[in-house]
Amino acid sequence: MKTYPYIITGLGNIGRNLLAILHERDDLLAHHYGFRMRCVGVADSSGVAYDAAGLDAAAIVQLKQQGGYLRSLPTFQTNWSPIDLAAQGEYDFLLESTPTNLVDGQPGLDIVRAALNRGRHAVLASKGPLVLAYRELAALSDLQPAGSNRQDGGSREQIVPPALRFSGAVGGGLPSINIGWRDLAGTQISKAELVVNGTTQVILEEMASGKTFDEALAEAQRQGIVEPDPSLDVDGWDAANKLVIFANAVLRQPTTLADLSVSGIRDVGRDTLQQAWAAGGRISLVGLAELTAEGRYRLSVQPTILGPEHPLARLAKGEMGIVYHSDIVGRTTATSLEDGPIGSCAAMVRDIIEIVGREQLQGLA
Ligand SMILES: NC(=O)c1ccc[n+]([C@@H]2O[C@H](COP(=O)([O-])OP(=O)(O)OC[C@H]3O[C@@H](n4cnc5c(N)ncnc54)[C@H](OP(=O)(O)O)[C@@H]3O)[C@@H](O)[C@H]2O)c1
Repeated sequence: MKTYPYIITGLGNIGRNLLAILHERDDLLAHHYGFRMRCVGVADSSGVAYDAAGLDAAAIVQLKQQGGYLRSLPTFQTNWSPIDLAAQGEYDFLLESTPTNLVDGQPGLDIVRAALNRGRHAVLASKGPLVLAYRELAALSDLQPAGSNRQDGGSREQIVPPALRFSGAVGGGLPSINIGWRDLAGTQISKAELVVNGTTQVILEEMASGKTFDEALAEAQRQGIVEPDPSLDVDGWDAANKLVIFANAVLRQPTTLADLSVSGIRDVGRDTLQQAWAAGGRISLVGLAELTAEGRYRLSVQPTILGPEHPLARLAKGEMGIVYHSDIVGRTTATSLEDGPIGSCAAMVRDIIEIVGREQLQGLA
């Protein structure tokens, strides 16, 4: 049975929970899917721990849960940055979960570049590299448009490029990307509606029950679900980042943040909210992609009244959802109510299983 060595960059809410899940589910992966995973490298803000023979995953999870740093470990590599780890370590999978940086995408962007350039699979939770450099990264991976960079009769490495997956970056465990890629394959998507920012769902629901915007924001902050910079949530930028990734990946329309019209929830009035709720609907921050007569998708993020008949009007507090409208399937809806960051970790696990399954089919595993 094949064992895949992997590295995790970033050991916060996502990275350390992912490490724990992969460690705990070693036997499940072996029995159900026929492979094992072995952690050989990890990185946090203090640097890198690496051991090609395998690290003690349980001890690292405990260290990070207790607020410790990798620099205290004997396997700490004093001369390696996280980018060096990706560029020089021996591994098959990069699992990237450093903070989302929308200024220059670093350090995640260079980490992912280093892995893909060496033919290593990359599974991302972080959004910065995808928002800023989707086309570049896709071109290094199996997401390149069919035939664009492939040579018939070329080497195995050319024919089977590394995988790039990020199904947890657009709504955590919500299968927002996978439905479009896999289940609606061959359809023409005419419209997609995304409610993928759980924080604004909570704030708007608190306001509908009578709180002011400031009180509702404070409540969401008390629950620990607001980004350190709240404007990322309340001004719509987190939802916009996810829509940029969605548009590039699923709609296959080259898109940057500049292509979106974005407005957040600060100006939503309590009265309007309460009227929407009283009528059996709600107001949500909706990312919308609509196919125009010119064949391009018009993209926006804005607070939107969802009438009682709308499939996303009944979401629970903090729940996320997506509605696809396509020509030969019709309307397809998915929703997901998750326990903190675990849904995003689960999405990274399903990405790994999908990539290994592809290798098994190709006879590479
Ligand atoms: N939280 C979620 O529910 C969620 C869901 C989907 C996607 N995401 C994305 O996943 C990523 C991680 O989120 P998170 O909630 O886990 O963040 P987090 O709790 O803030 O953890 C970030 C981790 O990255 C490490 N780090 C910071 N700067 C670094 C650097 N220069 N090099 C290497 N490591 C560095 C931190 O190190 P220390 O431990 O030393 O501080 C920490 O371990 C973000 O990009 C986020 O947007 C998060």
